Amino acid sequence: MAVLEIVRMGHPVLREVARPLADEEIQSPDLIQLIEDMTDTLHAAGGIGLAAPQVNRSMQLAIIEIGETPGRYGDLPAAPLIAYINPTITVLSTEEEGFWEGCLSIPGLRGYVERPHYIQVDYLNLQGEPSRILLEGFLATVFQHEFDHLQGKLFIDRMQDTRLLSFEDEFAQFQLE
Ligand code: NI
Repeated sequence: MAVLEIVRMGHPVLREVARPLADEEIQSPDLIQLIEDMTDTLHAAGGIGLAAPQVNRSMQLAIIEIGETPGRYGDLPAAPLIAYINPTITVLSTEEEGFWEGCLSIPGLRGYVERPHYIQVDYLNLQGEPSRILLEGFLATVFQHEFDHLQGKLFIDRMQDTRLLSFEDEFAQFQLE
């Protein structure tokens, strides 16, 4: 088990466009080890997604896992941990939906972000096979947030109203009912 350091906003790697992974890297021991370490890191941090640039590896790779924590993220179905390699997003509906987002690289803050509600994600799985999923609602937001990290973007860049940026304590006090 190896928990990696999560870099925070201000580290330049978070502002780089990450490089795509080559076919021969995808099942390499180095990449498998990195995904295991990212999994340990995500679990230690208690998050639902982690992108490789957040552990200072500028690669098109992110992991997402929705655990069995009823209520924490609304009525989300649990989703097993999956690694997404070289992902691309296609917006399927111009309709947008807003959610409060947080980020392990911006600890202590929450921000309200509106994003497309319905998307298609194309990616390579751990075997290097092309895969496709359709996502809507909060899950669509989670995937867009994680894959933004691979383009050097953070959720604060997507905020339309920076008055809706809050520390977690104040968020719990004033925004949650
Ligand atoms: Ni993030």
